[in-house]
Amino acid sequence: MISVAIIGAGGMGTTRARTISDSGLGYVQAVADIDPTKAQALAKSYSACFGNWRDVISRQDVDVVVVCTPTKFHCEIALGALEAGKHVLCEKPLARATPECSRMVAAAQRSRRVLKTGFNYRHMAHTRKAKELLDAGSIGPVYFLRCRYGHGGRPGYEQHWCTDVDCSGGGVLQEQGIHMIDLVRVLLGEPSRVLAETRRFFWPFQDTEDNCFCLFETPAHQLAQIHVSWTQWRNLLEIEIFGRDGFLRLEGRDGHYGPQHLVWGRRQPNHSRPAEEVFDFGEHDDSWIREWQEFVGLISNGGNSAAAGEDGLRTQQLVEAAYRSARESVWVPIPPVGEE
Ligand SMILES: NC(=O)c1ccc[n+]([C@@H]2O[C@H](COP(=O)([O-])OP(=O)(O)OC[C@H]3O[C@@H](n4cnc5c(N)ncnc54)[C@H](O)[C@@H]3O)[C@@H](O)[C@H]2O)c1
Repeated sequence: MISVAIIGAGGMGTTRARTISDSGLGYVQAVADIDPTKAQALAKSYSACFGNWRDVISRQDVDVVVVCTPTKFHCEIALGALEAGKHVLCEKPLARATPECSRMVAAAQRSRRVLKTGFNYRHMAHTRKAKELLDAGSIGPVYFLRCRYGHGGRPGYEQHWCTDVDCSGGGVLQEQGIHMIDLVRVLLGEPSRVLAETRRFFWPFQDTEDNCFCLFETPAHQLAQIHVSWTQWRNLLEIEIFGRDGFLRLEGRDGHYGPQHLVWGRRQPNHSRPAEEVFDFGEHDDSWIREWQEFVGLISNGGNSAAAGEDGLRTQQLVEAAYRSARESVWVPIPPVGEE
């Protein structure tokens, strides 16, 4: 049983704490939050202790630190935890910018501890099934991927920390698009260039976008079109993947996004309506528990400490390439992994 400290007792801290407690693989030992009443409330649910994050991450009775604060604080807290010899599961984005991510990955290598970025969308049921079908060649060679993802915010959204660049590192691309870019890497492969546009259509944010349109290209000339939005009238997550012999359509997530399902369509010999098979995965999103199980597996196998942290670093590089493209109105080349 792994003893865990949760840093940041907000939305994600609550989800992660519940997942860990339900998993049978760990328990919440300590909670920290800049707001002591929030730390105390979450700690109480798990009979855990609470305190400030510096004290909590250095406790002898803590094995793992789960970082669920606003992105601005990820780097400092993760570095402290790794230096204290803890394994770290850090929410996405790994940090606000690549220099911070690189420092975190280097610290994990130095301390020989696992650093994992929280990319739970990889573990969603429809994503896993799509990956299995793609790997089996079920739609033939893949031509392109098209993705739409977003919500419409809520009154006062411009006050939320995730719309403040100093706190989050960017806008809707950094906060939500990063999940979709991670999925492009998982489902299609590593992109080699990007063209992007950002726009602030509606929200009175100071310095960031509420919509982003990206086109990534892989070395095999496959395209991935991503539109992420904070002006989506109705919550939407839809990813379509088009191949020579068929298509995959992933829809839903949880809650207002609707349940996850996957449609697998196959070309008919006479090109009439494709044959469709639908996989329904119900209301329950098991991505959190699967991600936690993977993390525990990495720890118990003495797994490659850097790999999962490097996913966070690489995806942040792609986000920054897209932002650069939007600023400069040019295609931005993306070097192969390891040659940055
Ligand atoms: N994987 C996902 O799908 C997903 C979804 C939402 C958010 N996130 C990520 O999770 C992280 C947290 O987001 P959230 O939605 O839980 O935010 P939140 O605002 O609900 O919670 C953040 C908590 O951190 C606390 N906090 C702020 N500064 C702190 C500090 N210096 N030390 C300790 N505690 C501090 C706040 O008081 C708050 O309780 C972000 O990085 C966000 O991008 C991931």
